[in-house]
Amino acid sequence: MNEKNDDFKITVKSNTKDLFAFTKLVPKRKKRIHKAPAEPLTSDPINDLARKLHPIRQYLVIDEIKDETKTTKTYKLVSDPDFNTEDLAFFRAGQYLSLKVDVNGVRITRPYSISSSPKDALNGFYEITIRKEQHGFLTEHAWENWKVGTKITSSGPEGLFYYDNLRDCKQIVGLAGGSGITPFRSIAKDIIDENSDAKLVVLYGSSDEEDIIFYEEFNELEKEYPDKFKAVFVLSCEEVTLEGCEQGFLTSEIIKKYADANNSSFFICGPQIMYNFVEKELEKLNIPPKRIRREAYGEIKDIVKYPGFPQEVAEKTFNIKVSIGEITKEIPGIATESVLVAMERANLAPPSKCRSGECGFCRSLLISGDVYVSPACDGRREADKKFNYFHPCSSYPISDIEIQVPRSLD
Ligand code: FES
Repeated sequence: MNEKNDDFKITVKSNTKDLFAFTKLVPKRKKRIHKAPAEPLTSDPINDLARKLHPIRQYLVIDEIKDETKTTKTYKLVSDPDFNTEDLAFFRAGQYLSLKVDVNGVRITRPYSISSSPKDALNGFYEITIRKEQHGFLTEHAWENWKVGTKITSSGPEGLFYYDNLRDCKQIVGLAGGSGITPFRSIAKDIIDENSDAKLVVLYGSSDEEDIIFYEEFNELEKEYPDKFKAVFVLSCEEVTLEGCEQGFLTSEIIKKYADANNSSFFICGPQIMYNFVEKELEKLNIPPKRIRREAYGEIKDIVKYPGFPQEVAEKTFNIKVSIGEITKEIPGIATESVLVAMERANLAPPSKCRSGECGFCRSLLISGDVYVSPACDGRREADKKFNYFHPCSSYPISDIEIQVPRSLD
């Protein structure tokens, strides 16, 4: 490089045979076109495969329900024979399905991690494991209404929370809290099914024994595949009597005790409050960010506690003028509820999947007014910020606003 002129000299080494081979390409292609049948193609195998792997929607039906704990159930979902979902889309262990459900006449979406193995999708089923939340809009509905035979619509598998052997260390440390354990069941099963040379050590925080999901199943997996899986149950209650449990929280000491922190990739999934705690513990161990993966944790529960949220508007309701498809409507927007929730309440069926600012599916244009974007879920690109695009799922109205929202494809 000539530094003065900033010129670059690039030398391309090639074999002259390559050039001659290139000259033959066009005649070869012409020959193939000439030989091809004259009838138009009725199907495109590449597009067919893409549609199978990334369906816009899947029609499912509940085939089995298993009680895991007093407040947690696993739902086995199979293709609904009344619709055109023949094969379930394959997925990467750790991904989620965005369920689309009508609750009291309001169409909502909720992301749930798939808790079964990717291999099970090839055998015709997914499992999702749902814990009933207090005042959980969808979970309360599911508890009261879902039974074997209930039909459910979902997206294709989504999300970036998966193990990649090219990117991640062979030792995976899962830091899970509460129902955040569900993707790790899928990852553990996948490692075993694929006979992968990775090992998953899950440090699973729960409040007490009754709160633990998959206790027996994890112990059995560990016994059978000690070189592939280990589960450590960490209980925050005062007294711990259950075998194989630690008392306390997911601290750096516990992590060091069970994992080789310098040679591990860390995957975090759990309630929002756990992320701040665990990330500080990982900082103590000097874990570089490239070895930490976080599952998007859905909508923020208590937005007023986030830095920079303007407290003076916390009690206010603003006017949101929404243009979505052909419809323009003015709706109320509570400052402490996301713009996405405001649109769902107004039954505008806005697009959404992750509800965490990650997937970009709800990306919309802010024409006027201001929103507070939660720093924990700000997935906007720099260009989005510059041109006023935002994610309604992770943004809160802090003035009257006017927005333009893409119509949901499904
Ligand atoms: S739903 Fe994924 S970014 Fe909003």
